Amino acid sequence: MGNNGSESNIKHMKNVKHTKHRKKEGGFSGQIGFVMAAAGSAVGVGNLWRFPYLAAKDGGGLFLLIYLILAFTFGFTLLTSDIAVGRRTGRNSINAYSEMSPKWRFLGIVTFLVPVLIMTYYAVIGGWIVRYVVAFLAGQGNDAALDTFFGGFITSPIQSSMFAIIFMLITAWVVFNGVEKGIEKYSRILMPVLLLMIVAIAIFSLTLKNTDANGVTRTGLQGLAVYLTPDFSHLTFGRLMQILLDAMSQIFFSLSVSMGIMITYGSYIKKDVDINTSIHQIEIFDSGVAFLAGMMIIPAIFVFEGIEGMGAGPSLMFVSLPKVFHSMGIIGTFVGLLFFLMAGFAALTSCVSVLETIVANCMEIFHTRRKPTTLVLTVVYTIASVIVALGYSTFYIELPLPNGSTAQILDLMDYISNSFMMPFISLLSSILIGWVIGPDWIIEEVEYGGKKFGLKRLYAVMIRYIVPVMMFILFLQSAGILSWFE
Ligand code: PHE
Repeated sequence: MGNNGSESNIKHMKNVKHTKHRKKEGGFSGQIGFVMAAAGSAVGVGNLWRFPYLAAKDGGGLFLLIYLILAFTFGFTLLTSDIAVGRRTGRNSINAYSEMSPKWRFLGIVTFLVPVLIMTYYAVIGGWIVRYVVAFLAGQGNDAALDTFFGGFITSPIQSSMFAIIFMLITAWVVFNGVEKGIEKYSRILMPVLLLMIVAIAIFSLTLKNTDANGVTRTGLQGLAVYLTPDFSHLTFGRLMQILLDAMSQIFFSLSVSMGIMITYGSYIKKDVDINTSIHQIEIFDSGVAFLAGMMIIPAIFVFEGIEGMGAGPSLMFVSLPKVFHSMGIIGTFVGLLFFLMAGFAALTSCVSVLETIVANCMEIFHTRRKPTTLVLTVVYTIASVIVALGYSTFYIELPLPNGSTAQILDLMDYISNSFMMPFISLLSSILIGWVIGPDWIIEEVEYGGKKFGLKRLYAVMIRYIVPVMMFILFLQSAGILSWFE
């Protein structure tokens, strides 16, 4: 560790020079553009929907605390690795791994498969959000608040496919326009707007007050206390582990790490960008939005549905929230529209990063140009999205998963890519970086051009010892081999 290159490290440095910048079709214009685009990828439905639901389920403040600690240790380590690998090799996952070590090319291929799978269903979820935007725009907030609305929509073959196709085409348009004129341009506008909207709704949530049918009055500030106060009751070792694992898998998903996306985005940054500062900014942005999303959603649900409303789980965003907007009366139509628009932006910049990674890898493998590659992939994924969207009607299945839940096509894709492949990829990547090529290989890239890497010791210890052990446990858990936590 430290700064002295080990022998294997020196050998590798001969193989992989720091790329000046390989000839690419384009890249980010500078640090802000990169940070916005990477934050655009990171901030998505994971922050707005998954994080608040986990926080509510896992005892509020306790989950928050564990999440933040893990985000700034594990999240930081994984994000640094991906981005530095991308910039140092100037390649996408498949070739980046082969450059690091030719024997590890398979890991690049496995990494590439994650976005390939995620892309089949991300536009479907995006389509759901667009459906709600349209409902609120058309003044159908009342309909959206009905229990049957969501179910009725996703089981309608025509409607659900149509909205998935719309979202797919918008995503394709951004990617088609390239890195600087597409991804960066849109992220620079959408991310600050999103942040403003979320702060506004979060403040509004705290001012809410409602008296229910039993005469009980609940306020937004009480809801905030529910969100922030650590709940140590019934805290057992098993439960602590469960929270730890929930927080861990949330960090993967939320930071878009270990799926080649940040390798691709890393390959687009110039050599003079300060990777270390950028990473801290991305982490703060991502955790900040997740935190604010909780502040926006949990008090609102608490005020209108009480503590029981918290357990809604996955249906929180699409079933419980529209009810909350409905109970707000006329202003609810406006807040609802704002919320789903914002969720739509967040999902768009994430979906763009997934498609971009696939396009970039294909361009590199097949030596094709951006526009035709994007067109072909758009056709492929439009068909795939329709098939996944039809997974709730025409192609309905009920498949039991190792974690005990029952999956339709979308859940299956999600489970394979997020719960199963990502811990596996992080486990092997940490062994490759920590033990085969050495952490210095990454540290040098971060420090390139005399930049500071304040946490390099933490990085080295994490990547060698702590990440592999934790990933191994996570992997066993998601494969259904370890089940002593439930
Ligand atoms: N990070 C995104 C979120 O938090 C999700 C995402 C997953 C984006 C995979 C891209 C790829 O919602």
